[in-house]
Amino acid sequence: MSAKGLFVRAVTHGLITNNTTHYSPTSFVLDVANQCSIPIIGMEDPQPPSCKFILNASEQDGVSLQSIGTNMKPSRCDFINDLEIINRIKYGYTVKDPFIKAFTVNNLKRAETRVLDATAGMGRDSFVLSSFGFKMILVERNPIVYMLLKDGYERAKHQFGNVSSVIHADSINYLNHINVEDPNRPHVVYLDPMFEKHGKQRATKRSISMLRDIIDVERDNHQLSQLIEAASRVAIRKVIIKRNKSAPIHPNVKHSFVARDTRFDMIVTTDLI
Ligand SMILES: C[S@@+](CC[C@H](N)C(=O)[O-])C[C@H]1O[C@@H](n2cnc3c(N)ncnc32)[C@H](O)[C@@H]1O
Repeated sequence: MSAKGLFVRAVTHGLITNNTTHYSPTSFVLDVANQCSIPIIGMEDPQPPSCKFILNASEQDGVSLQSIGTNMKPSRCDFINDLEIINRIKYGYTVKDPFIKAFTVNNLKRAETRVLDATAGMGRDSFVLSSFGFKMILVERNPIVYMLLKDGYERAKHQFGNVSSVIHADSINYLNHINVEDPNRPHVVYLDPMFEKHGKQRATKRSISMLRDIIDVERDNHQLSQLIEAASRVAIRKVIIKRNKSAPIHPNVKHSFVARDTRFDMIVTTDLI
């Protein structure tokens, strides 16, 4: 059985001879399965009883995550057709919005501002920031989420002009390996780890609720202070932490940009904010 009942389904039909399906996974499917360390099942193969999630993989349609036993549609990173994100960019934000203001750095154009999204997830926040001109680097730890993110990014590359790389790594390690003397280190490090649900919360998006099932939310919570420490060491100007409006405030936070039900807490790492 794979971790958390996950399997890669190769979305290509096998060759049927003598009533037996001969299936040989393409290099794309093998790559997805190897990177995620999960077993492959072919399209005609019966679903294993332990199967809770399937990562559908095909060269043409990319990668999508399907939850078994629910009527949810498979979830994918689709920056081109996702109306919510398109509307968020077109009508949702202006440069005066708390989210955009949180990342804005004095005396620095947005196109010159390097932002490292250390908890990239499905890349939605990064996509919005990139469309506002910020220069983004995305880092994601979970191999399945990274696969979905990389796939979405590859298909929308032309619209994601300001993203220099999408990296599969634990950001604590990644940040700890950045030389603090490096003039090209990020001006802003962004943290949006998954938090345990507290009390009454607005219904979460389908993709986020599926993420909750496959990532280690407890680990995200426990490592927050380590992540803040690593980010504060590296960021030239500031660290921005996205939090639920009612969540406790970290003692180093200087100011919060408050949106409708979210806060963007700012830790200043230089006087020149
Ligand atoms: C709430 S989601 C981020 C959502 C994202 N802001 C978006 O707009 O789609 C949190 C993500 O952070 C990732 N994460 C948490 N800790 C991490 C770490 N130390 N390094 C890299 N990724 C991490 C989790 O795997 C998860 O995918």
